[in-house]
Amino acid sequence: MYSKNKPAFFFTVILIVVFGCSQALYIPTFADSQNAGVSTDTLALGRKLYVNNCGSCHSLYLPAQYTKNEWVKVMPEMQKKANCNDQQVAIITKYLKARSRQE
Ligand code: HEC
Repeated sequence: MYSKNKPAFFFTVILIVVFGCSQALYIPTFADSQNAGVSTDTLALGRKLYVNNCGSCHSLYLPAQYTKNEWVKVMPEMQKKANCNDQQVAIITKYLKARSRQE
């Protein structure tokens, strides 16, 4: 039974990989910018910096996987690893915190 459905299984996996990853990382909206108290442009820049600097060693963690405090805690170590300056990290952190997990 399993082997009969193998092509369908792999097709489904490919669909999840292709569409799942690209849609999961949210695109900032006006509502996000109001909640976070920063402009949509800043959040969009944070997303871009995050994608460009944080995905080379591990897959990109979703903002909702960690609380605000957890994000703040992990950033200094990851800043060293990613070689980002303080300003870049501050903007990335704003993006991540704007849709972080509820404490
Ligand atoms: C040079 C490789 C590298 C880069 C670049 C990198 N990371 Fe990591 N990251 C790691 C490794 C290795 C771990 C797991 C071990 C650890 O916690 O140190 C990790 C773990 C994490 C975790 C999980 C921590 C936990 O305790 O659950 C988060 C969240 C994270 N990284 C976020 C980021 C962010 C945000 C950036 C961009 C600023 C980034 N990483 C860039 C190597 C990297």
